[in-house]
Amino acid sequence: MPRPSLKRPRRPWCIAISIALVLVVIIVIVVPCAVILTRKTHGERTNVLFPLYIYPTNDSTWDPLYDSVTTHPDLNFTVIINPSSGPGSSAYPSDEYITNIEHLSTYANVRKVGYVRTGYATRNISTVLSEVSTYAGWANRSLDLAMDGIFFDEAPYDYSAAKVTYMDTINEAVKSASGLQGSRMVIHNPGTVPDSRYNANTTDVTVVFESSYQDYESERHSLAALASDRTGYAYMLHSVPDSLSNGTLRKFVDTMSRKAEYLIAAYPHLEFLVIVNPNSGPGALPSPDANYAREVARLNACPNVYTVGYIRIDYCRKPLAEACEEIDLYASWAAEHATTGLGVGGIMVDETPNHHAAPAAAYLAALHEHIKASSGLLRDRLVVHNPGTPPDYTMAADPGPDLILVCEEPHPRYRSNEVQHRLRELHYDRVRCGYMISQVPRDEIRALVHDLRQRAAYVFITEIEGDFYERFGPYSWGALMEALSLQSEK
Ligand SMILES: *[C@@H]1O[C@H](CO)[C@@H](O)[C@H](O)[C@H]1NC(C)=O
Ligand SMILES: *[C@@H]1O[C@H](CO)[C@@H](O)[C@H](O)[C@H]1NC(C)=O
Ligand SMILES: *[C@@H]1O[C@H](CO)[C@@H](O)[C@H](O)[C@H]1NC(C)=O
Ligand SMILES: *[C@@H]1O[C@H](CO)[C@@H](O)[C@H](O)[C@H]1NC(C)=O
Ligand SMILES: *[C@@H]1O[C@H](CO)[C@@H](O)[C@H](O)[C@H]1NC(C)=O
Ligand SMILES: *[C@@H]1O[C@H](CO)[C@@H](O)[C@H](O)[C@H]1NC(C)=O
Repeated sequence: MPRPSLKRPRRPWCIAISIALVLVVIIVIVVPCAVILTRKTHGERTNVLFPLYIYPTNDSTWDPLYDSVTTHPDLNFTVIINPSSGPGSSAYPSDEYITNIEHLSTYANVRKVGYVRTGYATRNISTVLSEVSTYAGWANRSLDLAMDGIFFDEAPYDYSAAKVTYMDTINEAVKSASGLQGSRMVIHNPGTVPDSRYNANTTDVTVVFESSYQDYESERHSLAALASDRTGYAYMLHSVPDSLSNGTLRKFVDTMSRKAEYLIAAYPHLEFLVIVNPNSGPGALPSPDANYAREVARLNACPNVYTVGYIRIDYCRKPLAEACEEIDLYASWAAEHATTGLGVGGIMVDETPNHHAAPAAAYLAALHEHIKASSGLLRDRLVVHNPGTPPDYTMAADPGPDLILVCEEPHPRYRSNEVQHRLRELHYDRVRCGYMISQVPRDEIRALVHDLRQRAAYVFITEIEGDFYERFGPYSWGALMEALSLQSEK
């Protein structure tokens, strides 16, 4: 049976294998390098994004906001102004709005952004652009009425080239609007983590979670695991209980501001083996580049992280010498390990064949030997094969890889009779095998973790469809961690 054609990751990606120490099971988790490895160092600055969709019937309607702003001079508030699901049909808002917006402008820690809906990039772009210029026109009335940017609600999260162009165009309109002040902030609200191709540098903030406070409470473990350059991501919470006024709100905001740090630290009892992949391999010289060097050293410094380098061999069609060169390049990372903290503890070989053929077996054996003999590789010089389906026994024997990823499938296909049959037919010892399942419905995550743990010591699950090596499942990453943690405590 030929290996089913699966979307291959084209951009940098990596996998983490975590070991739940209590049961001594090992679990594979895919981690988006694109995210982790470009994470910037930062302070713990927090901005409060406040959707002020309340009509100011009188001068005290917005008092709760004025109070918060006054009592938290150390926090910056970005207030979303929304007279009428947009700026409304006239050049300026009502007098009540004008009075209250001008009052807001007297607070140094408040920025104001105008609400514009894009209908997931389906709304007539002329209408959207004209709403942006209406907000920009408010500056003509008074400088205190001037907006600092635009909040685009219903931003698309699924990719299409046309939608990306649409968003880029409206972003540009904001950035070049002379009536907007300051940095002319652009905020997108897809309400979830958007496709990674929505990466215009004109987007200042993306809202990746929009739900009620109660939902946040119940999902916060998943959210805590959302990795990102935190300066670019925001949460929006509504229905925050009144009782949360001072200290609690403070603590709550503080907790959210640290979410990026939760990534690995939150699960100290799990071990992560991160597959580092600068560019479908070690990348061009200098390898690693400065960003990878910094982040790999940071990963290596975590006691619960084990890093390995990614290579792909195109089902043994890549010349062996070339594959060995890539391994040598990874091995060279550790040249000054003691001072740099750099280096990897093995190699993940992607695109290994699953059908027996003598030349392919010889190729893999040579590669294996090369890895195990590379003095620049650290620790166990781990050899991981990824055929994506169970390989013929002869392809995984003597010397067999330390780990085999026997099933890399979207959930619907994983459940098919064909795949289940193949998995039963070619059964590997669970301690050596791993499963990577994408497109898993949220409510099946826990059951699937339970099921896969019987079959494999290595498990990765994500809800994402496509490009799932480049970002965390907004829900599934945390749910997976939680399911594993629960089960490993038993
Ligand atoms: C402002 O309006 C609210 C109702 O929206 C009312 O309860 C309140 O008494 C009003 N305050 C003043 C000062 O008029
Ligand atoms: C708030 O904004 C000001 C001006 O942009 C900036 O100097 C300050 O560091 C910000 N504070 C926080 C907590 O982000
Ligand atoms: C969008 O709006 C503009 C201006 O109102 C109009 O000329 C154009 O036909 C509209 N486009 C579509 C596709 O409706
Ligand atoms: C604001 O002023 C600019 C330039 O002075 C002008 O182009 C624009 O139409 C004005 N907008 C409004 C709403 O009056
Ligand atoms: C944003 O990207 C464009 C190219 O896409 C570049 O010309 C511009 O300098 C960048 N701006 C910033 C602020 O990085
Ligand atoms: C919150 O702060 C305000 C103003 O400082 C104070 O009046 C109020 O009693 C505080 N609330 C709580 C629950 O501490």
